[in-house]
Amino acid sequence: MEKVPTRLNVAPVPPDEIFALNGAFFADTHPQKVSLGVGVYRTDDGKPWPLPAVEKAEKQLAEENDLMRHEYTAIEGDVPFLKIARDLMFGFEGKASEEAAKARIASVQTVAGTGANHLGALFLAHHMKPRNVWLSNPSWANHMTIWELAGVPRKTYPYYHAATRSFDFDGMMSTLENDAEEGDVVLLHACAHNPTGLDPNKEQWIAIADLCERKKLFPFFDSAYQGFASGSLEEDAWAVRYFFDNKPDMEMCVAQSFSKNMGLYGQRTGAFHYITNRSATSIRDVVVNNLCHLIRGEFSMGPRIGCTIVKKIMSSEELTADWHNDLQVMSSRIKSMREALYNELVRLKTPGTWEHIVEQNGMFSYTGLTPKQVYALKDKYHVYLLKSGRASISGLSQKNVAYVALAIDDVVRNVL
Ligand SMILES: Cc1ncc(COP(=O)(O)O)c(C=O)c1O
Repeated sequence: MEKVPTRLNVAPVPPDEIFALNGAFFADTHPQKVSLGVGVYRTDDGKPWPLPAVEKAEKQLAEENDLMRHEYTAIEGDVPFLKIARDLMFGFEGKASEEAAKARIASVQTVAGTGANHLGALFLAHHMKPRNVWLSNPSWANHMTIWELAGVPRKTYPYYHAATRSFDFDGMMSTLENDAEEGDVVLLHACAHNPTGLDPNKEQWIAIADLCERKKLFPFFDSAYQGFASGSLEEDAWAVRYFFDNKPDMEMCVAQSFSKNMGLYGQRTGAFHYITNRSATSIRDVVVNNLCHLIRGEFSMGPRIGCTIVKKIMSSEELTADWHNDLQVMSSRIKSMREALYNELVRLKTPGTWEHIVEQNGMFSYTGLTPKQVYALKDKYHVYLLKSGRASISGLSQKNVAYVALAIDDVVRNVL
């Protein structure tokens, strides 16, 4: 048979670390295996947790048997859902000039938070042509991929001070001050920074907003954990709302996800919001129109089921209260697991300091373990976390936390 050469020129792409680790975890048959890799909520029994508020909404929706439920939506997405998503993010209650504030926001539905990041990157690449995007070092690994695919050169600003395991505010500020240029995009995690779990405090956020304004940098917020991190939707949106309310002459955008805070991971539920400055609200509809052009060429419209569930919950006082309670359940369990791990390590007198585990916020802890220690944890103890030492705290439970602490104690003492 004559060999026909392929026309493709493809080289292997390294597998995604998180999904590869998850695959290895599932293939592992060890009875004490522990997954601290993927960022999903788990109960104390290590099980997925469809939120009770979501289950009630699903039941009501099933009973309603809406014939439209599988129909196409508009290209911009489900408009009532978009209003709910926008109001949750920006919080207009009790604020003066609500209509003027809303007139600044162009919202479209996306394929969850990843899709919102991607659409935003593509939109800015086409219509703003930033010279650079600045990502925190470290950041969610997918930020690199998303901006690479959008063709925007990526630079990083310092974020993590390894020696003190703390947020490197001075490093971030001086790099952006000295090296960022007018029109550059600065990617900011709205709360619960992934992977470090370290967020700026309010004073630092104010200084970051001032810097962006003075240097004419474009803030791009990624909000993947609103309400999930602290249990409070307001608290976790503080930075976004501060920028929005106090810097009305600045343009910015927000990628919003409902994956974690409503446990709608696979339903791909999210939104992208572009905020015009207060003098440019007349371009809002053209922004939506251009976002729709990109959406149409790529996926036509966002998926329906997740946003229908969000609408159902938010249109009922009872279900909304249930959801707020679910957020408390998730955030409190994660906080209590941080404390349990910290207490065990202190009890074992594990060398080093471990306060950072309780001080960090949200889904993850940046443990400070080295790649060799991480490898040993997997090899010897079947405890899975990322090479960077990032651990998804939700994988801990009352049953496994002592085992995980013992494993960490051993590798810290014996693996350099
Ligand atoms: C910082 C950050 N942004 C965005 C996302 C996107 O999540 P999704 O696409 O599942 O909504 C995640 C998920 O892990 C994340 O951690």
